[in-house]
Amino acid sequence: MAIATINKQAEQPDIEQRIEDLLGQMTLAEKIGQMNQVESGGEHAIDHLRHSIQAGHVGSVLNQADVDIVNELQRIAVHESRLGIPLLVGRDVIHGFKTVMPIPLGQAASWNPDLVRECASVAAREAAKSGVNWTFAPMIDITRDPRWGRIAESLGEDAYLASELGVAMVRGFQGDDLGCAGSIVACAKHFAGYGAAESGRDYATTNIPENELRNVHLRPFEAAVDAGANTLMTSFSDLDGVPATANDFLLRQVLREEWGFDGFVVSDWDSVRQLAIHGLTEDDAASALAAASAGCDMEMAGGAYLHHLPRLVEEGHIDEALIDKSVANILRVKFRLGSFEHPYTDPSHLPGFGDEQALGMARQAALQSVVLLKNDHAALPLSAERLTSIAVIGPMADAPYEQLGTWIFDGDMQLSVTPLQALQDMLGGKVDVRYVPAMDTTRSRQSDAFDEAAAIAGDSDVAVMFLGEESILSGEAHSRADINLPGDQAELVRRVRAAGKPVIAVIMAGRPLTLSNIVDQVDAILFAWHPGSMGGPAIADLLFGIESPSGKLPVTFPRMVGQIPIYYNQKNTGKPPSPETIIHIDDIDPKASQTSHGLTAFHLDAGYTPLFAFGHGLSYARFEYQNLRTNASEIRPGDTLQVSAELTNTGEVPAEEVAQLYVRDLVGNVTRPVKELKGFKRLRLDPGQTIVVEFSLHTDELAFYDRNMQLVTEPGEFHAWIGGSSETGLRTEFRIVDSD
Ligand code: GLC
Repeated sequence: MAIATINKQAEQPDIEQRIEDLLGQMTLAEKIGQMNQVESGGEHAIDHLRHSIQAGHVGSVLNQADVDIVNELQRIAVHESRLGIPLLVGRDVIHGFKTVMPIPLGQAASWNPDLVRECASVAAREAAKSGVNWTFAPMIDITRDPRWGRIAESLGEDAYLASELGVAMVRGFQGDDLGCAGSIVACAKHFAGYGAAESGRDYATTNIPENELRNVHLRPFEAAVDAGANTLMTSFSDLDGVPATANDFLLRQVLREEWGFDGFVVSDWDSVRQLAIHGLTEDDAASALAAASAGCDMEMAGGAYLHHLPRLVEEGHIDEALIDKSVANILRVKFRLGSFEHPYTDPSHLPGFGDEQALGMARQAALQSVVLLKNDHAALPLSAERLTSIAVIGPMADAPYEQLGTWIFDGDMQLSVTPLQALQDMLGGKVDVRYVPAMDTTRSRQSDAFDEAAAIAGDSDVAVMFLGEESILSGEAHSRADINLPGDQAELVRRVRAAGKPVIAVIMAGRPLTLSNIVDQVDAILFAWHPGSMGGPAIADLLFGIESPSGKLPVTFPRMVGQIPIYYNQKNTGKPPSPETIIHIDDIDPKASQTSHGLTAFHLDAGYTPLFAFGHGLSYARFEYQNLRTNASEIRPGDTLQVSAELTNTGEVPAEEVAQLYVRDLVGNVTRPVKELKGFKRLRLDPGQTIVVEFSLHTDELAFYDRNMQLVTEPGEFHAWIGGSSETGLRTEFRIVDSD
């Protein structure tokens, strides 16, 4: 076997040797050219870029997805530049390419890593068919602020869930072999801390204590690196006074020295030159020096590296050895990608766009991502047999582009099936489907069609309202300070409610919304995020019980925007609130003297609990947990605790439940969260079926960074829960005791 292995290596010269050989031939200008990524969109990209590529000044292009143009750009690089180094072709393939999957926050609501990986795999093969070989995904910024528009691209508020799903995306994009035709390079972004932007305003300052940075924000990135992500992208944001693009603590100490990352780091769009705007540097030359010195290997769309690094090296401001390291990182990824052997794309070698498998994945992902937030008196599922008419009301019922969500540069709206279309297909001839958009957009303040909507609702057996936000209201630079339903949607709900028939709300949005002003006006709420190409059929299946909702919230839903940040894995504080210690502003005795109420951590006008908690999601079945057990009440460092519970479907329909394992470390060298997700399993149960849900918990999984930034697992008392959300579940205790 050893001999065979050696022979195999002999056939494929070691990548490191190839890097060394190539670097040895490169001029300084050609090296810096590899560190330069240029915008290449539009039909004239070839004319615009030919000379730069011929001169060896371009290492990567982005935003070109016409396979013929990409192949010609590659041909120029390979045959008309001195060393023939192929290009990396980057694109934001965030949640699909032509076939669009639910937005990442929606995919996160599936709590299904296998599904998320398959969605990324479909996206990769469709992108690769267009010549794209590098995606700027997964976005694994942790955020607890739904005002931030980019929460839509994230995998939610929890580091464990984002780690599991971010790794799944990396594996889906890169496949088992990065050199395969349908695999593309993944890019974990935005490194790091971007999701903590002050007030949820995009690009705003982030101040994150190192302990919080390590225990929360860095965990998904370390997981992605460990899973083999070949690139990372720096964040735009100022992190504790040093913008991430020039933050050597992040890019050298953490990423290279601690994690051993051997891929490369790309800046965000023009974030190198923005260092001067931040006020970290004086000008583009100083910005190029700061970013390259800190370990940002490639500059996206700025030109500062190309224009200033040659002189900075020649004048001795930066050592050429540092340039060589960055170029080696970039070449390493190009060799791993196999792009020297296969620089061109033959689209015929890959399946067609929007094929049956792709649309099937999109439908499955939409089905599993929708969260049933509320279902009073089993208003859902609807029954076609018991209905003669249904009023379909609202601006999101028939919006094939809007249901795709943000970051869908290449999404094919023609593939979309809207809820209205799906309901008409499903019910045609059996149930009268009456449609009133009632609003031109979700932001509309025109209510002259509300009477018609209310009349149709009153004349139908049920009203199903499709509400929410258009895709433009989330995503980059699209933060909102008020996260109620936009426009006059709440008034529309009130008017339809007044018609006196059951009201079902289906909400499509790129973020959690504050729904307190409609939650009591409707009988049921299905939260569908932006569900992608096949959102319509999935929502129709869920409305009529073809499938039961099974999504769980990957992010907390506040009652009011003033509660933000509000998240499940908060610290206990020294004055934790409880129902007994709080009072509502309306209940304060008008004659009360200047006394203090409760003296605990709550808001007089909002309390301290969310409207819907992390991990929450209802089903058409009923799930009961019993007999929580552990295999030991005391364990030692290095042991694995087995935690199990019986899960029974006591309902009348088969359905899937996401069983969740949470743990609390009661005492720590630094204070620890009141609860932390440590495991989850999506399980399908028939009516009456009982399954024993088992989790293994190694003591290493209880480790945290202490006040000295050491990763430690401390002895002490722990609580563990197994349940269907972060606010329910059976609880047990166990201890970690010192080794003898
Ligand atoms: C944008 C985004 C980044 C994206 C890049 C290329 O500004 O911040 O996430 O990948 O530019 O489009």
